Amino acid sequence: MKQRSYRSFTARILVFTVLGLTSCRSSEELKSEQYFVTGQQLYMTHCANCHQMEGKGMSNLYPPIVGSATISDKARLARIIQHGMSDTIIVNGKKFSRPMPPNPKLTEIEIAEIVSFVTMKWGKDSVYTPIEFVHKALAVSGAD
Ligand code: HEC
Repeated sequence: MKQRSYRSFTARILVFTVLGLTSCRSSEELKSEQYFVTGQQLYMTHCANCHQMEGKGMSNLYPPIVGSATISDKARLARIIQHGMSDTIIVNGKKFSRPMPPNPKLTEIEIAEIVSFVTMKWGKDSVYTPIEFVHKALAVSGAD
């Protein structure tokens, strides 16, 4: 009898632990999924005209995002999305010197969603980028 109740107690602890772990993981996964999906829609509206839905860019006009070293620097990516960019860059031997327009109307959460989509789809991220990260990145002055 004693043995049994001890066992059921252990079993209960185990169930709680497993439930706790899975619910923790799935809320992170859920958020990543939400950011990814919303980010994809925002990318379609605000980025795909130039960089294309596949992120491959367009001839000599718009550079590819796939394979761009810039997307591994997420703080810089967030600032490029907000402020645009007017440099001359060379990617795969092609020179790009048109400016990218800024997006002053995008909110920090929308930028976080776009960054999440871009870095999860074409970068190395497996989880979303939180708004706090973007908030800090955008607070840095003298942006790109
Ligand atoms: C009107 C066309 C246009 C739109 C819309 C646009 N871009 Fe760009 N993007 C460019 C151009 C042109 C450049 C290159 C700018 C330069 O040479 O300074 C660029 C550069 C970039 C780069 C840097 C690439 C590198 O290799 O350094 C990233 C990352 C990027 N864009 C992401 C985005 C994202 C994300 C969006 C949507 C929020 C977006 N762009 C919207 C035209 C655009």
